[in-house]
This record gives sequence, structure tokens and C-alpha cells, in this order.
Amino acid sequence: MRHSRIRNPRLWLAGIVGAGLALVLAGQSLTQPNNDAPPPKREVGKTSYDQISPVLIGKQTFADMMAKDKAGKAEVMARQKALLEERYDLARKVSKRTKMTRGKPVPVGPTARLPAGVTWQELAKMSPEDIRDKGLFPKGYLPLPHPNHPVGGMVFPQHQIKQFKRLERFDLDFDLPEHFLPEFPPAMFLTTRPDLGDVSQGKVVTIENFQDLFQGILNAKDLEGMRLLVTQFPQQQFNATHDRKTEIASQGVACFDCHVNGHTSSATHLVGDIRPQSHRRRIDTVSLRGVNVQRIFGSQRAMKSVEDFTEFEQLAAYFDGDPLTAIAKGINFLNRSTQVHFMAEVQDLLDFPPAPNLGLDGKLNPKKLSADSPEMRGQALFFGKAKCAMCHPAPYYTDNSMHNLRVERFYKPQRINGMVATAQGPIKTFTLRGIKESPPYLHDGRLLTLEDVVEFFNLILETQLTQAEKRDLVAFLDQL
Ligand code: HEC
Ligand code: HEC
Repeated sequence: MRHSRIRNPRLWLAGIVGAGLALVLAGQSLTQPNNDAPPPKREVGKTSYDQISPVLIGKQTFADMMAKDKAGKAEVMARQKALLEERYDLARKVSKRTKMTRGKPVPVGPTARLPAGVTWQELAKMSPEDIRDKGLFPKGYLPLPHPNHPVGGMVFPQHQIKQFKRLERFDLDFDLPEHFLPEFPPAMFLTTRPDLGDVSQGKVVTIENFQDLFQGILNAKDLEGMRLLVTQFPQQQFNATHDRKTEIASQGVACFDCHVNGHTSSATHLVGDIRPQSHRRRIDTVSLRGVNVQRIFGSQRAMKSVEDFTEFEQLAAYFDGDPLTAIAKGINFLNRSTQVHFMAEVQDLLDFPPAPNLGLDGKLNPKKLSADSPEMRGQALFFGKAKCAMCHPAPYYTDNSMHNLRVERFYKPQRINGMVATAQGPIKTFTLRGIKESPPYLHDGRLLTLEDVVEFFNLILETQLTQAEKRDLVAFLDQL
């Protein structure tokens, strides 16, 4: 029996393809999500081979898929817009004082809409169970679905697509307004040449200009690492097969399409390693600034080195954790002892933006700020009543660990536009250095401003900060 199965790989493959196809077809009904029916207690998928599309195996044509996707796009985007409007006040409100390195004003919140009839202070006095049972957790603090969760994949913001048309998908658009995103292009700092300041010269580093920008600044090996970081390689939605989401066949994406200039364009994606699709999490691109002082990588994977994560990105994350379709789409195997090493070395040179008011201990320099300034008061709260330093200790404001915030204490499991919001488990404590430059916040980007971060943690940690204390805490975060 065992022998005949091994000798007949075609049957085996047909089984996988068949199961995948069944799921893909079943999945199509998910594009009209039913948010009313609560998810079953134990939701499991029919197969783990759910990335095989009907187009890839000739059951649908590219033209037919594209026509259907284009026809459905308006409805998909309207559904997501309605969700965002229900959750947040999306109007442009930005700081007059606080700017990112190259001058983009920092967005100001809180943006999350409060449920009718309660104030932030009243909510903070209630127990998590009470908030859950009365359905009073602000919707903006629930997990955020991908713009089209049942389909997923990499999505780039509009202002980036304006400059790089090749990053446009025909089936959907990025969903969050530009004023809640990092500046584009962002500044770029090297740990090895702090004397140079921003080395990007205001440009997006690409295959076309990296030689001009970095000759004589990086060594030859790191120049090659940089080349690989700006070179496009095939990916699930951006490739040359008929199962792609770009009108013209694509060479793929570059690491620095998402981690633009080593920071983030805020491109979004679904995490590769969870099934079924409804349980996968939206992931907001993290900044690579300061990876050299970090010890775990990825919000949920806790990989142990930048090298490991670099390999994992191209082998697994690019292809939604599916090695079968990856081969069809042109997976690029990097050589660990040369290419991966070179790429990791360059990432390890990416520094945080300067924080001129921090001393060697990573705390505010008391000679620069008076003891009764909002920033100093905020710092005292951060290390005291607000409990932030428990997980975000100075000088880098991360404990290099994972924590389970158990946000699900505050809400009942529910369906949201094709995503299931339920317990999410431990997540990496991200660093807070340079934090004002990387909205939106949390692994899925559900918190649009630092004011929302503070309201969120005030509920999660049950700290009961006053309105004045919350303002001081944000003033401190802006200094990091
Ligand atoms: C969708 C655009 C996208 C592309 C393209 C991309 N990344 Fe990422 N990257 C992400 C996201 C999203 C995360 C966060 C992953 C998570 O939450 O688990 C991430 C995380 C990382 C991390 C871990 C950072 C940390 O602080 O934990 C490293 C290192 C990294 N990427 C390197 C790369 C490299 C190298 C490439 C190219 C091979 C690449 N990325 C391509 C989006 C992207
Ligand atoms: C129990 C540990 C813990 C405490 C206490 C804590 N955090 Fe965090 N913090 C985390 C974890 C874990 C994440 C990632 C959560 C996620 O993405 O879902 C995070 C994420 C964040 C982020 C978003 C980072 C990013 O790049 O998106 C900010 C900002 C932040 N915390 C600020 C604070 C502040 C301010 C406080 C105090 C009011 C605080 N944290 C208290 C563990 C903690």
C-alpha cells in the first residue's frame, strides 16, 4: 500500500489540487461575509493547500479572473470603507508641533469611535468582562481585517503606487488614508555613518539609484546586500503566472518595496502561517530600523536572527506559507552563506532616527527638559503608573520578548468582513524608538495614532490614567 502511494505521485498531487480547488471555490462565498453569525468554537479549514487557484491549474482564464475581480473591486472597497468609517474618525487631524524626520506631521487622535453613551474614563473603570458582555469595547481596538481578507496578499498604499505603477493590484486598493501612514519616502540612517545624517537624499532607494547613493559609503559586500534588498523577486500576487493580481506580468516585489529605505511604507499583508484564511492576521510592515539591537523577529514567529527572517520572507511569507504554488510562481532560493548574509548585514546597519533629548540611558536628559514639562511627567508615568516599562524598558524600549495581552478578554469572538476576531496569542513587544514615525500601530495597524495606543493600553492594563496623564504620556512617546 505504502509503496503504491509513493509510486503514484500524480494521484497524490491531484488530491491536493482537488482539495485546494474545493476550498478556493468554497472560499468564494466568503467575499460576501456574514458578520452576524458568530464563528464556531473550533474553526478548522478543509485543507492546508488552499493557495492553489483555479487559474493556476487551468480551470479559469486570467482574463476571466481579472474581469471578475475588477467588477467586484468597488464592492470590496466599499465594504472595507464602511468598516473603517464605523470604527474611526478618519478626518485629517495632525500635530502642528510634532513632525517625522523629513517633515510629515504626526497624526493626532484618538480616532477610535467610542460606543454611544460612554466616555473613555467610564470605560476604563469597567472590568474587561463587563466591557465584553455589554459590547462596549471600541470597535477600532478589535483586530483589523485585510482590505479583502478572504483573498489577502500584499497591498501597497496609493501614494507609493503613484510612483511605482508596478505595485498596483487590479482587485483591490490599500484602505487607510495617507495622513495615518509614515512619510514617503522616509529618512534612512546608518549605524556606521551617523555623521552623514539621512543618507537617502530624499529619494526612494531603488535598483536604479542605490549605486549612486551608496558607493563609497558601504563596502562592496554590503552594496551587493543592498542590491538584493532592492531587487524584485516573484511573490504570490506579483509574478508572471496567470494567477497574479497585476495587469501586466510582474518580476515580483523587492524587500524595500515594503521596508522602503529600511523603514516601512505601511504596505500590508496576511501572516503566512495560520489556517484557515479567516484566522490569518493582517500584518502592517514593521520598520527595520534598529533590528541590530533586537533579538526576535516577526510579530508571531519569534525567529532568532535577521538571517532567518530574511530567508523566511522569500521562501514562506512571500508565498503565504505554501511551497507548492511558490515553485510555479518562481520562488527564488537565496544562498545562505553569501546572499542572505549580505542582506542581513545591510539590515543590521539601519539605525533609529536621532532622538536628541535622550541620554545614554535612553531616558530624557534632565538638563534639556524641566522636571515639570509634559515630556518629563510622561516619562515618570511610562516608568510608573502607566506600566509601559514593564515590557518596553529603556534604552531601546523593548524587552525582546513576546507577551499575550489577551485583548480577547474585552470582546466576544466575532466575524468581521471575512476575518474571525478571537484570541490572538503572544505577540512581539515592538521597540518604541522612533515610534512617532511608524503609524499605524500594533501588528495589524488597528491603532491609527499614539493617542489611540495610550487609550488602548489604559484599558488593557486597567491603569485608569487621567486625561492630562494620557496627554503627557503621548508627549513622552513623541520624544523617543
Ligand atoms: C508586504 C511587504 C513586505 C515585503 C516585500 C517584505 N517584508 Fe519584511 N516584513 C513585512 C511585515 C508585514 C513584517 C512583520 C511580520 C510579522 O508581523 O510577523 C516584516 C518583518 C520583517 C522582519 C522582522 C522585523 C522585526 O522587527 O521583527 C525582517 C528582518 C524583514 N521583514 C526583512 C525582510 C526582507 C529581507 C525582505 C525581502 C526578502 C522583506 N522583509 C520583504 C513586510 C514585508
Ligand atoms: C505586558 C507587556 C506590555 C505592556 C505593559 C505595554 N506594552 Fe506596548 N506592546 C506590547 C506588545 C506585546 C505589543 C505588540 C502588540 C500587538 O501588535 O498586537 C506592544 C505594542 C506597542 C506599540 C505599537 C508598536 C508598533 O510598532 O506598532 C506601542 C506604541 C506601545 N506598545 C506602547 C506602549 C505604551 C505607551 C505602554 C504603556 C501605556 C505599553 N505599550 C505597555 C507589550 C506591552
